[in-house]
Amino acid sequence: MRLKEHLKNGDMEIAQVVLRIAKVTKTISRGFATRQGISDSSNIYGEQQLAMDKWADELILSDLKASGLVRFFASEEQPDILKFDSSSDIGVTIDPLDGSSLIGVNLAVGTIVGIYRGDVLSPGSEMVGAMYVLYGPLTTLNYCLGEGVHEFLLNEHDEFVLQAENLTIPDSKIYAPGALRRDYLPFHKRYIETLEDDGYKLRYSGSFVADVHQILHKGGIFTYPGFKGREEGKLRLLFEANPMGYIITEAGGATSDSQQSILSIKPESISQRVPVYIGGRREIELIEKIRKGE
Ligand code: AHG
Ligand code: MN
Ligand code: MN
Repeated sequence: MRLKEHLKNGDMEIAQVVLRIAKVTKTISRGFATRQGISDSSNIYGEQQLAMDKWADELILSDLKASGLVRFFASEEQPDILKFDSSSDIGVTIDPLDGSSLIGVNLAVGTIVGIYRGDVLSPGSEMVGAMYVLYGPLTTLNYCLGEGVHEFLLNEHDEFVLQAENLTIPDSKIYAPGALRRDYLPFHKRYIETLEDDGYKLRYSGSFVADVHQILHKGGIFTYPGFKGREEGKLRLLFEANPMGYIITEAGGATSDSQQSILSIKPESISQRVPVYIGGRREIELIEKIRKGE
């Protein structure tokens, strides 16, 4: 089944947004072959060449602006929330390319999208949907509009076709820990040691979207904690943590900043960062328990 058919029983306005973004990601996917290695600079003709992440941002921004489907648009690559002409109240957040430092070494990267009705500066629990596209050996698209997490595969005819419906996060002992061990805060150090003593296996690529995708399929925990010198962590609440957290939660997992669900945090700015724990419920209960017992 194609993505368009799969979306046909839900909210038509939101479905249109998902389809527009899905179409742009096909262009992004093709861009890796031709734009690989370009960093902001002029080419031999004096034309400005954009790095992949800014190029991807421009593509999605201009497409959604022209679509008339979206009123609020926030991107990791833009300093402010943009307001487009639209009769809808749909708000979209994007990380156009997540894991961009891995493009040059041909590891999986992705595009992450959060969807709102109204203001995007709202808790993640108010999202009406989220999606991400993973550019790996295959290009896959996962979406959730509040009714299950579904996965599509970009096939040889350049169409997203259904690969799996209603994904649920299994139980397993995988951990994907960001940040430097020497900078761990005491409660986080205890958490990691507890996982290691329990036999958790390390799986960390440096691409959040790819690492969380692995957790969705295999179970376990991804964490990029707050650490010494940056207690608020590295990952961004609006562009990274909330959309991926929403999808994992809808797949039966959970999120935390070590004390509460990330989805319950009211953002104060679009560039806000957050300590991230995303994965199975057992692993999320454990970090909150260890933090409480500090
Ligand atoms: P982005 O490419 O959008 O800037 O995000 C990079 C993020 C995320 O993808 C990843 O989990 C994290 O940075 C990796 O950080 P470290 O290199 O510190 O592990
Ligand atoms: Mn990112
Ligand atoms: Mn990015």
